[in-house]
Amino acid sequence: MAERRVGPSSYFDPSRIDTLDPPTADLVRRRVGALGPAYRLFYRSPLHIVRGQGVHLYDVDGAEYLDFYNNVASLGHAHPRVTAAIAEQAALLNTHTRYLHEGIVRYSEQLLATMPASLGHVMYACTGSEAGDLALRIAKYFTGGTGAVVTRNAYHGVTTEMAAVSPSLGGLESLPPWVRVVPAPDTLRTDTTGFTGIGEWFAAQVQAAIDDLAAHGIRFAALLADSIFSSDGVFTDPAGFLAPVRAVVADAGGVYLADEVQPGFGRTGDAMWGFQRHGSAGEPFEPDMVTIGKPMGNGMPVAAAVMRPEVVEAFGREQRYFNTFGGNAVSIAAAQAVLDVVQEEHLQDNAARVGARMRDDLRSLMAQHASVGDVRGAGLFLGVELVDADGGPDEGLTLQVINALKERRVLVATSGPENNVLKVRPPLIATQADSDRFVSELDAALSDLHA
Ligand SMILES: Cc1ncc(COP(=O)(O)O)c(C=O)c1O
Repeated sequence: MAERRVGPSSYFDPSRIDTLDPPTADLVRRRVGALGPAYRLFYRSPLHIVRGQGVHLYDVDGAEYLDFYNNVASLGHAHPRVTAAIAEQAALLNTHTRYLHEGIVRYSEQLLATMPASLGHVMYACTGSEAGDLALRIAKYFTGGTGAVVTRNAYHGVTTEMAAVSPSLGGLESLPPWVRVVPAPDTLRTDTTGFTGIGEWFAAQVQAAIDDLAAHGIRFAALLADSIFSSDGVFTDPAGFLAPVRAVVADAGGVYLADEVQPGFGRTGDAMWGFQRHGSAGEPFEPDMVTIGKPMGNGMPVAAAVMRPEVVEAFGREQRYFNTFGGNAVSIAAAQAVLDVVQEEHLQDNAARVGARMRDDLRSLMAQHASVGDVRGAGLFLGVELVDADGGPDEGLTLQVINALKERRVLVATSGPENNVLKVRPPLIATQADSDRFVSELDAALSDLHA
């Protein structure tokens, strides 16, 4: 099968190995030899990182980089509260969920208190993929259906089941018959004529997909939606636009599965969870299931599926769930430290404040650089869409920009089906000075490229 166009071009090209300095080339060669062909390295020439501290990463030569990409280390790299929690718990006990332990119960209660009251149970896994896999399995069990609807460039993970609902991995031709894709709610490029707005338009796409599943004799089980559409190109506004699609899923008897692996834990600034931006005081947005991961352990592999008790009731009675490492005492200790720090240090507020100013500053770049076609996002998750002279997606420029930023010691990556959206996701502790540095380096990189 032909290599898909999207993706690999933002990575190191192994045929250029001889252009690297000898120690780097040697490590790349040994890595490819040991890990095989499926792994990728970021950037035109790979980065060899050996240390992280706060928003900074340091390479093997001691050079410092501003990390505006890693939403996993959302408290910053090597956060002392997290490293201490991990070390203390590892020195005491690390075992599984078949013994009573106070830690997991305490953490679960504190976590559930941040969610709508209707989401009453949490089940643990090690990765976002595993959490999504479990959630979809439970959703299928609950509904008796198999049909799933996802967005056009969605990414939900690497298990066989999650890869099957991730068109960004293998393309549309790789999808099984029980999956339907809908276009993402792309506010820059969608013609919503005939609809009240992007929300009603998106709900109509999902309704059509559910109808098509039914026409093929496939019962609808779930809509999986990343609440910030991170791999589709970052779509956040207007807040509230997911409310109509929530109603469509409920009316069809399916499960609304909010994938919060990317926007969760305060990143959007407006709320602890990305989906909450789409509700209001009078009408809160309440998914049936939520998956969380990435920043949950600030780097420790810990993830979870959160759900309405009714959804898991029959599954829990008739099946059983055990995950050797999911919910182990050390991972939970890390997760506890993360949640405590997010809450005690008001990192959601910091994301709102620093993110809003950064969005404004990036928007002001649009006046100086015709290539900046759109700036969108919420809190500290922003998308900067780079376009050509006709306003079309400019993947080539985007790849030049991320490599130029790397040379300027600032790290970001790309998103979107056309790979032309800068994905900007600094740790939640990023300061105004960090944001200023990023914006000014981007400005300079675009000027150098005459873009
Ligand atoms: C939206 C989304 N869902 C799920 C996953 C899978 O998480 P993990 O890599 O922890 O399996 C990812 C990972 O990038 C993701 O971005």
